[in-house]
Amino acid sequence: MSTGLRERAAAELARTRQRSVGLTDAVDDDDLVRQHSRLMSPLVWDLAHVGNQEELWLVRDVGGREPVRADIDQLYDAFKHPRGERPALPLLSPAQARAYVREVREKVLDLLDTVELEGRPLVEQGFAFGMIIQHEQQHDETMLATHQLRVGEPVLVAEPPPRSRAIVAGEALIPGGPFEMGTSLEPWALDNERPAHPVDVPPFFLDRAPVTNAMYQAFIDAGGYGDPRWWSADGWAHRQEAGLSGPAHWHGDGTYTRFGRREPIVGDEPVVHVDWYEASAYAAWAGRRLPTEAEWEKAARFDPATGRSRRFPWGDDDPTPEHANLGQRHLSPAPAGAYPAGASPAGVHQLMGDVWEWTSSPLYGYPGFRAFPYREYSEVFFGDDYRVLRGGSFGTDAAACRGTFRNWDYPIRRQIFSGFRCARDPRPGELAD
Ligand SMILES: [Fe+2]
Repeated sequence: MSTGLRERAAAELARTRQRSVGLTDAVDDDDLVRQHSRLMSPLVWDLAHVGNQEELWLVRDVGGREPVRADIDQLYDAFKHPRGERPALPLLSPAQARAYVREVREKVLDLLDTVELEGRPLVEQGFAFGMIIQHEQQHDETMLATHQLRVGEPVLVAEPPPRSRAIVAGEALIPGGPFEMGTSLEPWALDNERPAHPVDVPPFFLDRAPVTNAMYQAFIDAGGYGDPRWWSADGWAHRQEAGLSGPAHWHGDGTYTRFGRREPIVGDEPVVHVDWYEASAYAAWAGRRLPTEAEWEKAARFDPATGRSRRFPWGDDDPTPEHANLGQRHLSPAPAGAYPAGASPAGVHQLMGDVWEWTSSPLYGYPGFRAFPYREYSEVFFGDDYRVLRGGSFGTDAAACRGTFRNWDYPIRRQIFSGFRCARDPRPGELAD
């Protein structure tokens, strides 16, 4: 591993830890050990789990060092204990968890300087370090979602997102034909993003912006939550059982709660905290549908000028604050039109950042998929139980987000920062020249 790569890994580890510390130092010890929702772990579990994964992969596996705390592996194994059970476990206290993650990190920085990193796929181009950085960032987003569910005085602060700088509405035509989906080159891409493979996508239309709060309010006002015509059988059953009447955290009086602050709903901001059934029902009501995962990725990466798939809608450069609302710089999605520099060649905006976008697709491995470095990263989730989300949210860090990055969750979940945009097929004769 080159000096540049070592420096980058160290800098990303430090930047990521700063975020984890911010999210956990923002509340007192009672709040850290409390379960704010059955869907979430106590924040102190996330913190120690991040350290435990770092210990397992970097200290023990990559570094070949002695365990720091082999006795706690069980407690922080996400597969051994579902979230609902975690508060009852004999977890490390907040002070112990902080000391533990610091100790692990010291060992990692020590071995990063010297460890031999040639000849093992796990460490090629710093993959294991990238994986652990992404893992911590993913838990930071999870902790941010826990903060949204937490009841109490607001504790997080951030600048408001940028204003809209361009009117972005209507739809863009994405030309038909093959494109390269997934990646074989991106060094820190995870197993489920690999390998690159051709996919033929017929022409389709895609919304230029995510569905906004005002658009979604029109669906509610039209009685969308009371009309089974727009819902799948499963979706309707869930809507009734869960008593859904609007996005999570909406109060039905034009206000919503954001990280403990009750505020008027901003109309041109992408709707967030809707589940897959709600997104699908809106799309049906609007005479549209959700895009498939391949459609979404083609819209985000395909460059018609060269026929090449790029890393991001705007090109191959890493995201900057001009491109996308990522990394918890703001505590909400930005209004449609806030990121003209991040638009795709076809004029599709805000594909990256703001809200995770539901697609119609279940999660499966790509042709040629190989589990790496362990089956539990994604292979065990393949199947029809989950739906894929793309593009990252305002709470997703750039290190854990790419044009190829795939997220997934159950269709009933909406504690995540989930929104959507709609697609449709061309009408007969619409594309005739
Ligand atoms: Fe994890």
